[in-house]
Amino acid sequence: MAQFDLDAFLRTQQARVESLLLERADRLSASGAPPRLVESMRYSLLAGGKRLRPVLCLTFADTVARASLGSALAADAACSLEFVHTYSLVHDDLPAMDDDDFRRGRPTNHKVYGEAMAILAGDSLLTDAFGLLADGPEPVRGALCRELAVASGAAGMVGGQVLDTAEDRPANLDYLVRMHRLKTGALIRAACRMGVLAGGGDPEALVRAQMYGDAVGLAFQIADDVLDVTSTQEQLGKPAGADADAGRFTFPAVVGLEESRRLADEQVRLAVEAVRPLEGEDGPLAALARYVVERKF
Ligand code: IPE
Ligand code: IPE
Ligand code: MG
Ligand code: MG
Ligand code: MG
Repeated sequence: MAQFDLDAFLRTQQARVESLLLERADRLSASGAPPRLVESMRYSLLAGGKRLRPVLCLTFADTVARASLGSALAADAACSLEFVHTYSLVHDDLPAMDDDDFRRGRPTNHKVYGEAMAILAGDSLLTDAFGLLADGPEPVRGALCRELAVASGAAGMVGGQVLDTAEDRPANLDYLVRMHRLKTGALIRAACRMGVLAGGGDPEALVRAQMYGDAVGLAFQIADDVLDVTSTQEQLGKPAGADADAGRFTFPAVVGLEESRRLADEQVRLAVEAVRPLEGEDGPLAALARYVVERKF
């Protein structure tokens, strides 16, 4: 059997996401919002990036899709995830947080637009994400808003960022796993679940998306920590070695590189098993799970 061509699949899906984001960014430009604010939002939103969360959302939607549901739902869900993710990066890079100067291969938002505008651009990306999700008559949009809110808020990404920056964090694996599941895992899990909801999948598919998203979400942040040690700024488009320099709390710092890789691989196996009943052998979701730990940036 021919191996699934992930490179071609990713290129197609990423191009699809770029054009969906551009449409929505153009709507912002035409909305009457202050031009400098929109410029700052577009600077970070349209700077590339892997688009993993929207790609996962669209792939789950396509995998479970029923003909009765329009694709605008999945498109809005995918874009809302990238809006929130981009806001989280803009704020994560601020001097009060990780204080980083590069992101997606260019100077960070606050380096170009100043801290106040970077904070406000993040605020708008977050808020407008919910505007996108709520913009349509389908009742499932309420459920999509809830998924995104829970994954991004105090019991999700923001909560995880708080655990990451807590001064009294204990250097043990349980805390680290909990932190990673919140700061990165929650939004990735939501991306998978939102794809199933937007595609009209059944409860069994939702459970499988959740298992897959949990595993891929944890593996993704472990891989991010590993790449900070093993890669270069040129490859990553953001600083390398910055975690160790800043004394950050990461998987390699707590359990070492080899064990970090083993734990991430274990999560990938769980993810691949979870989606086999949905897509069969050698489908795009299994390939995306492997990509999460094999990627170079
Ligand atoms: C970086 O996310 C921050 C984490 C949550 C680890 P990505 O690695 O998905 O960044 P982009 O979107 O590709 O730039
Ligand atoms: C960030 O984790 C997770 C977010 C919620 C943005 P990191 O701080 O490790 O992300 P990078 O390495 O700066 O992309
Ligand atoms: Mg951080
Ligand atoms: Mg950071
Ligand atoms: Mg990192």
